[in-house]
Amino acid sequence: MFQATAPGKVILVGEHAVVYGRPAIAAPVWQAVATATVVPGAPGSGCHIIAPDVGLALRLADAGDDEPLAVVTRLALERLGISHEPDWQITLHSDIPIASGMGSGAALSTALVRAVMLGASHAAEPSEVSELVYESERFYHGTPSGIDNTVVAYGMPIWFVKGQPPEPFTPARPILLAIADSGIRSPTKETVGDVRRAWSAEPARFDAIFDEIGRTVLAARRALEAGDAVALGRIMDANQALLQALDVSSPPLEKLIAAAQQAGALGAKLSGGGRGGNIIALVNEESATGVSAALAAAGARRVIVTTIGE
Ligand code: PMV
Repeated sequence: MFQATAPGKVILVGEHAVVYGRPAIAAPVWQAVATATVVPGAPGSGCHIIAPDVGLALRLADAGDDEPLAVVTRLALERLGISHEPDWQITLHSDIPIASGMGSGAALSTALVRAVMLGASHAAEPSEVSELVYESERFYHGTPSGIDNTVVAYGMPIWFVKGQPPEPFTPARPILLAIADSGIRSPTKETVGDVRRAWSAEPARFDAIFDEIGRTVLAARRALEAGDAVALGRIMDANQALLQALDVSSPPLEKLIAAAQQAGALGAKLSGGGRGGNIIALVNEESATGVSAALAAAGARRVIVTTIGE
């Protein structure tokens, strides 16, 4: 039996503008993980992928090219030079909420690729896993920047610019985030598509917003490297205002953000594609419990408090 896990993720700053070549910072969240387990089956039984949480059960040989988990499995087998269908039962589990900006698709694919590679006794490099998962991410996102597969495969905070090698980095001091799920499912493909339409209609206006987001991401990196949580909180608020200008926020997300701020968060913003999904609030040891309670009272389905950069 071979088992591999992959974390969920949050985008700290820079979502959407990252699709247009500006930098972004993302970090793994180990409190929510995807797990893939490979168990050898009887000879001739074929390769089956089962994800009971999402009601998925397929045989690799019969799955179409529109099924991302089958696509990524085939890519991994191809990479390993395995041309016959192995007799494996691959079971996937995840406690990362789907379509909520926490990278559930990337984490499932990453765990799957790692388990397949372990099953074939291949030690996978993060860059190799990331590249294979990117292929499957295209099914979820349309035009993905590659940030999700990269942060999930590296399992470390990263500075990311599309098309460039990621820069894993460690903040000078760990930061504490409260991640609150609005419970509203919002496919990233839709918000990314809406932003693209808006940008096509008014390129100069939207390029200026993307530039401004790029500047906030650089400022966030400086604040993280200086261990300045107060500055980072302000930068997160500024990034949220720019995401509003891109029209990817929503009243339920604004309600959660306001609740976090009133309860003493240093800053708060949506994280990921937006409209629904998660918000992140920068907290500290003193404010974490109060902010989490305020988020729950404001309607959050689930609040995870996580440390980034330990
Ligand atoms: O998967 P999500 O919802 O965290 O979104 C990824 C971030 C976007 O910038 C909105 C899209 C992308 O491909 O980078």
